[in-house]
Amino acid sequence: MSFKDKVAIVTGASSGIGAAVAIAFSAEGASVAIVGRNQTKLAATASRCANSLVIQADVTNDDDARRIVNETIETFGKIDILINNAGGLSFGSIFDDKIMTAYDSTMALNLRAVFRMTSLAVPYLIKAKGNIVNVSSVAARTTQFALESIAYSVSKAGLDHFGACLAADLAEHGVRVNTISPGPVVTDIKANCGDTGSWDDLKPFTALNNVSQPEEIADLILFIASDKAKSITGSNYITDNGFLIKRYL
Ligand SMILES: NC(=O)c1ccc[n+]([C@@H]2O[C@H](COP(=O)([O-])OP(=O)(O)OC[C@H]3O[C@@H](n4cnc5c(N)ncnc54)[C@H](O)[C@@H]3O)[C@@H](O)[C@H]2O)c1
Repeated sequence: MSFKDKVAIVTGASSGIGAAVAIAFSAEGASVAIVGRNQTKLAATASRCANSLVIQADVTNDDDARRIVNETIETFGKIDILINNAGGLSFGSIFDDKIMTAYDSTMALNLRAVFRMTSLAVPYLIKAKGNIVNVSSVAARTTQFALESIAYSVSKAGLDHFGACLAADLAEHGVRVNTISPGPVVTDIKANCGDTGSWDDLKPFTALNNVSQPEEIADLILFIASDKAKSITGSNYITDNGFLIKRYL
């Protein structure tokens, strides 16, 4: 799966799935724009990439989003692949006062920023006949998740439909759009949202009694973004160790 001469933007590349994706693209020859907020973590990802551009930016900020696209074009001249990966969750249940704060911050990051980044990148993706992979979650398809993460689940359900609509919109322009929906993956996401639970605690909620590593998710993303997947658009791939098919009876 060579990505030689390809240019990819990976949002949220300072840790977890995004970092693994950036490193994997780079290993396959791509030039990668590594987007995130934490300079130290971004530098750690960049140190494992041969040809990368570090862009410290907040994807929820429209000026930063423009800067991400502009700096990528100034440095690499084109955009072949956009990985809308940056995401996270803010807790708040429908029964407490935090609900609207959780809604606003979660939607701003998981949905609005994806609209903004995508709309800015689309003209370049059309020129390159490129593709987009959005990182959703099995949380979009189940009510099993905690009461407090309703905003996260709804944001990812919105992202799923955004991906399907966008695939239809961009097909005539030769741009593919796909979504992946992981189950539990060992990343910084728990620490970043203040969840102190262990990843091992989630294993019994999967049929395979396992949780994934970010590199496994990166493998799937690279396949979908590659020419091997040239007929795949509007699809949504679950990679969840059987979280959604787990039987409880
Ligand atoms: N880890 C899981 O169990 C899991 C499961 C399903 C889906 N996901 C999704 O995978 C994606 C990546 O998450 P992860 O698990 O690797 O977590 P992570 O916290 O390790 O990575 C998220 C990345 O997004 C970045 N980010 C957050 N807000 C940002 C902002 N405003 N601007 C720029 N960057 C920002 C973070 O700095 C970080 O680099 C997210 O969309 C998440 O919802 C994760």
